[in-house]
Amino acid sequence: MKALNLGCGRRYQTDWTNIDFRSGSEFVSAHDLSKGIPALDESFDLVYHSHLLEHFTKDDAEVFIQECFRVLRPQGILRVVVPDLEQVTRAYLTALEHASGGSTEWCNHYDWMIIELLDQSVRTHPRGKMGDYLSAQHIPNQDFVIERLGTEAKKLTDSRKQESCAAKRVNSFVLNPLLENAIKPIYRFLRHSSYRREWLLKSILGEEFETLELGRFRKSGEIHQWMYDCFSLKRLLEQNGFVEVIQRTAIESYVPDWSTFNLDTEPDGSIYKPDSLFMEAIKPDA
Ligand SMILES: C[S@@+](CC[C@H](N)C(=O)[O-])C[C@H]1O[C@@H](n2cnc3c(N)ncnc32)[C@H](O)[C@@H]1O
Repeated sequence: MKALNLGCGRRYQTDWTNIDFRSGSEFVSAHDLSKGIPALDESFDLVYHSHLLEHFTKDDAEVFIQECFRVLRPQGILRVVVPDLEQVTRAYLTALEHASGGSTEWCNHYDWMIIELLDQSVRTHPRGKMGDYLSAQHIPNQDFVIERLGTEAKKLTDSRKQESCAAKRVNSFVLNPLLENAIKPIYRFLRHSSYRREWLLKSILGEEFETLELGRFRKSGEIHQWMYDCFSLKRLLEQNGFVEVIQRTAIESYVPDWSTFNLDTEPDGSIYKPDSLFMEAIKPDA
């Protein structure tokens, strides 16, 4: 099977073609997918993407789905995984009802649900309010959050705690302040080749530099630009030529033994991202 994993992040198969904005591995090619998929027509049996489509604007997403169609061979399979707008909205409404009814426990769930619903679209810095919440020393409803976001949230909470311990260790190493002040700018100037460019831009743009930085962040691939439910995603796929569009669970697929790839599930069988909508479709014969 010739398979393509788009926006793979750190979750990829070594014998597939894997593409992401940045490549941290020899098995991942770096490419901006909003500029198209770098592959020949009808060259893949399977195109898979998980939590990527929502990073495109609604218009770009349509063009991107057309690209998925183009690179699939007839009878090829498209599997799309996105955060489920319906599921998150229903969970928010449940939390709202209980919190309004006076439940303290549900007040915490309500706060989390607002973050889950909005933060990835509106944040202005990496990891946003979600990152702040997950890196807190005490998360009042950790089990609830992990149940919603899955192992990813667990890894994030664990890694953030390790990072904060490491930061404390670094901070406890005290340099002579005079020496530190002298060394730091030289070190930065020499280490980061882009530092001079940034410094120049800052000098030219003044306060506008902040706007530039915000724009850069919002185009970095972290922001959600749109969301989908089972109705809108099915319609998007059908309108762009796909047939036999069907909603799946994490383990169901047109692909035999899908779970063995450990993309939507973990080796222990748990679901990687439980907040997801899983959908598959087929490219019909010409
Ligand atoms: C939420 S992560 C999902 C990663 C992985 N698929 C998973 O399910 O864990 C979204 C990924 O899409 C990538 N991405 C977003 N926009 C992209 C673009 N225009 N071109 C290439 N990759 C993009 C990001 O760099 C990031 O790795």
